[in-house]
Amino acid sequence: TGKVALDIGFVNTASCTSAITYIDGDAGILRYRGYPIEQLAEGSSFLEVTYLLIYGELPTADQLGEFDQRIRRHTLLHEDLKQFFNGFPRDAHPMPVLSSAVSALSTFYQDSLDPFDEEQVEISTLRLIAKLPTIAAYAYKKSVGQPFLYPDNSLGIVENFLRMTFGFPAEPYDVDPDLAKALDMLFVLHADHEQNCSTSTVRLVGSSHANLFASVSAGINALFGPLHGGANQSVLEMLESIRADGGDIPRFVERVKSKEPGVKLMGFGHRVYKNYDPRAAIVKSTADTVLDKLGGNNELLDLARQLEEIALNDEFFIQRKLYPNVDFYTGLIYQAMGFPTRMFTVLFALGRLPGWIAQWREMIADPSTKIGRPRQIYTGETARDYVPVDER
Ligand code: CMC
Repeated sequence: TGKVALDIGFVNTASCTSAITYIDGDAGILRYRGYPIEQLAEGSSFLEVTYLLIYGELPTADQLGEFDQRIRRHTLLHEDLKQFFNGFPRDAHPMPVLSSAVSALSTFYQDSLDPFDEEQVEISTLRLIAKLPTIAAYAYKKSVGQPFLYPDNSLGIVENFLRMTFGFPAEPYDVDPDLAKALDMLFVLHADHEQNCSTSTVRLVGSSHANLFASVSAGINALFGPLHGGANQSVLEMLESIRADGGDIPRFVERVKSKEPGVKLMGFGHRVYKNYDPRAAIVKSTADTVLDKLGGNNELLDLARQLEEIALNDEFFIQRKLYPNVDFYTGLIYQAMGFPTRMFTVLFALGRLPGWIAQWREMIADPSTKIGRPRQIYTGETARDYVPVDER
């Protein structure tokens, strides 16, 4: 029983070694497998980045084509799984619907759950990548009372998702290539972020040798929280509440600075980035073009810009090294694309999936992995004697 170090929130504790994602928080650097996020956002695609994160190298054209074909074969949901969506209330938030359906995949594919069988891990990987967009689109369709569409496997992963989300069964749906490209790029930006809360959750659950679906389902639930992926929804709600308050930004900033309970500048601050979040820089520069093209809410964009400007020049935020994070501008883009606010965190989950899978697989393949089991510092009563209930 050696000494136990206390590290609330794991601020200084590395839980694993990993060769997937590199972050330098002071310099604002993010790289997947060594490739700078800026280059991947500019030149790569979500499918290619998915391959890169999971298998470690950029694919050749043949490898990418084969990977794509293999994923396309698995986009359908079992008809029985589709019944699932009817079991939730019509106004259910799509995040718990997503995590529940992913958890349920363990019941539909009981023949491929062994984490130590490489072939089974591979098939589970493909199923998850292919089916998560279908599940996400159905969660949306159910919430608006529209019929489900079968996947169209002549389309790529992002186009197919857009069609299943916004299309109708009997009508042709022309995917807007600019929209698809912008969403693809946002998915690239979200694809991995080393040991964040949801990824650590995926690893922790997986460290008990729980299967991939169970582990990823837990990660989705972790992502739902407003301090993590849920922040993209919270940012938009914050901007809307400022607008409802007559656009009074200074008043809102004062409420944040006075630490009014529950009032934070959502979309600001990061555990690791203390200078700027390179993903936020890319999102900000695309927000303009995308919103112009898609006719997004420029009033809210203006509010967001002013809010950022004021915060970046305010001593409270400067002292605490608080900068916009990836969630600050993404919601405005998602809104312009036509997604309701409640789908924003689902989009984050679709983007983060390759990272969760890559990290889970890296952990399972590493012989030095042990079950995650943190210690504690006990602060309760010392030993005392039990008193029967009639003597208390
Ligand atoms: N607004 C106001 N004050 C803040 C904020 C904020 N957004 N973030 C941090 N602070 C203050 C905090 O109150 C503390 O002040 P003090 O030193 O006076 O007690 C100081 O800054 C340090 O913050 P912390 O809470 O110790 O930092 P953390 O590393 O534990 O938390 C964070 C990081 C991201 C949870 C936090 O910055 C936050 O809650 N931000 C708002 C939610 C958000 O945007 N989350 C998305 C994160 S990025 C992508 C993702 O994971 O989804």
